[in-house]
Amino acid sequence: MNTKTLMMGIAWALLLAIVCCPAAQAQKKRNKPYKKPAQKALVLYYSQTSNTKAVAQEIAKQLKADIEEIVPVKPYDGDFQATIDRCKQDQKDGVKPEIKPLKSKLKKYKVIFLGFPVWFGTYAPPIATLLDKVDLSGKTIVPFCTFGSGGLESSAAYLGQAQPKAKILDGYGVRAARMDAMPAEVDQFLKASGFVKGKVVKLDDFSASHRVSNDEAAIYDAAIGDYPMMQNTRPLFVASRSIPDGTEYLFTACEKRKEPVDPNIAMRPPKEMQVYVIVLDGKAPVFTKVVR
Ligand SMILES: Cc1cc2nc3c(=O)[nH]c(=O)nc-3n(C[C@H](O)[C@H](O)[C@H](O)COP(=O)(O)O)c2cc1C
Repeated sequence: MNTKTLMMGIAWALLLAIVCCPAAQAQKKRNKPYKKPAQKALVLYYSQTSNTKAVAQEIAKQLKADIEEIVPVKPYDGDFQATIDRCKQDQKDGVKPEIKPLKSKLKKYKVIFLGFPVWFGTYAPPIATLLDKVDLSGKTIVPFCTFGSGGLESSAAYLGQAQPKAKILDGYGVRAARMDAMPAEVDQFLKASGFVKGKVVKLDDFSASHRVSNDEAAIYDAAIGDYPMMQNTRPLFVASRSIPDGTEYLFTACEKRKEPVDPNIAMRPPKEMQVYVIVLDGKAPVFTKVVR
């Protein structure tokens, strides 16, 4: 090897050492302009009367996430009864509503917040159409919904069946009658599930359950008020815990039933349900959700 080749070899080795050494790499990194990480969460929702839309917008705002509405080709623009009739007819005909193509590229997102109103105990039909069309395998889905009385848990179970290879997280649900409590609850939900940094108010476990007293039954009745679907229910057991500014009750309730005419005729046992009720200081009892 002559001197010139040797010198060139040393020069190359020195250059490589400078370029590859960690300090040089760190310097190189520092010199790179800051690039915002790719957006990883999408808020995707259907809403007929804007309750779910409000929750979607709140989640997107707090997360600074992208947001898109699922739009049926033929909108559900009738009243409550017309919507029920259309759903029943579609079910009879075995059809699901067509939806407009999504603008978002789902493969860009690892986490999808999927929002819907609860219809007939599960997600509204435009979501069923979406779940037929897309493959969410490997993605994390965070369901959120609005409802008259409840349905988050049952919807999440159907979601798991429709997309068995997706990871379904515990979601957030709120009654249409409690939308004013929603922004603060979304804040706590996103913090508790680790999507946003911040203080989470830790709640105690519920106490052991006991048979309801007359006073507790009166709280149940006041919370149910004149909500139609709950009129035929009565509380059996109750547990409770302290929450900020009040008390939360967890009632086990069941359908009220007339005695069987013939005691020899076997009847199905009355359906039980969990009814969550809050009583804030100085306020009337309200139920927050029913889990059937
Ligand atoms: C056809 C239909 C079926 C419904 N079924 C249920 C139900 O099974 N359980 C429930 O709690 N609420 C039910 N609701 C009430 C809606 O879930 C509730 O009003 C929701 O907040 C509407 O959301 P949106 O404003 O985003 O459309 C139903 C409403 C409609 C129109």
